Amino acid sequence: ATPLRLGIAGLGTVGAGVIRLLRANADLLRARAGRPIEVVAVSARDKTRDRGVDLAGLRWYEDARELVTDPDVDVVVELIGGAEGTARAVVEQALAAGKPVVTANKALVALHGSALAQLSATHNAPLLFEAAVAGGIPAIKTVREGLAGDRLLRVGGILNGTCNYILTVMRETGKDFATVLKDAQDLGYAEADPSTDIDGLDAAHKLTILAGLAFGQPVEFSSVHVEGIRRIGAEDLSFARALGYRIRLLGLAHMTECGLQARVTPCLVPQHSPLAQVDGVFNAVVAEGEFVGRIMIEGRGAGAGPTASAVTADLIDIARGHTIAVWGVQASAGLPLRAAPITLG
Ligand code: HSE
Repeated sequence: ATPLRLGIAGLGTVGAGVIRLLRANADLLRARAGRPIEVVAVSARDKTRDRGVDLAGLRWYEDARELVTDPDVDVVVELIGGAEGTARAVVEQALAAGKPVVTANKALVALHGSALAQLSATHNAPLLFEAAVAGGIPAIKTVREGLAGDRLLRVGGILNGTCNYILTVMRETGKDFATVLKDAQDLGYAEADPSTDIDGLDAAHKLTILAGLAFGQPVEFSSVHVEGIRRIGAEDLSFARALGYRIRLLGLAHMTECGLQARVTPCLVPQHSPLAQVDGVFNAVVAEGEFVGRIMIEGRGAGAGPTASAVTADLIDIARGHTIAVWGVQASAGLPLRAAPITLG
């Protein structure tokens, strides 16, 4: 069978993880996809860095956009990150050239998902981003496909592994914020700029995407209320404990009579509730539908292995020739959905 040939843009924690997984599971993937899935080209700035994977025999590009024009690359896998710059250019150019794109880039999809969906539809080039939300949890497939039959009322959950790790380890060990953040960076959980994690923006990007899928239309990122965990101290964690609660950074979007409400904020959750049991780098995605009721799925929300697993699931979909519209429905002609302002009381 003809192999599906990949060009991987970005060789950080996730890029190296994808190469490792594709090699370790090559036989399994060939059987499941019906054809081999092979990396033929990569691009990253620093050629000399040891990434713990053998890159011999792979074509190397300094500029990721060259992956788009390489006729041997069937699919562009964008793992650079960031909503603008090279990441955005390479995804736009690949879709415009009719090449399928798999990305883990939540900022890009949250901010430009509407325009990218149009490009994807116009050029008949799939755009898949399972790894963009909640790491290894199949959040996108669950909301877009698994719950496609129901009318969803709310969606969200614990959407940032770094914050959940920090809140958990601070509570369990009494270590200070900066030390635990450094651990999360060393473990490969945090974004290149960790303020994206701790100020809640990363969770808000993921919530924007989930809400877009749940309500069948892209959501305006700037209308999501965002608050991070920077101001949570050891005393907050111990007061919460004394009162029978845990602190979790939650992202929640729901439809109200005034329209969509979407927010990311630290919340007190009762210590025996399911969300309070989700510790460390784990994320949880919750959804509620009219017919299905409430569901919750839990798993590792960051790190090389879980994210590589999600990227690979998308690659198998493409290898099988499966296509699905970006938001699960044909792109709506309307403007992206705006969340209504959150009012207290
Ligand atoms: N920095 C992100 C997190 C990585 O901690 O959840 C996964 O998107």
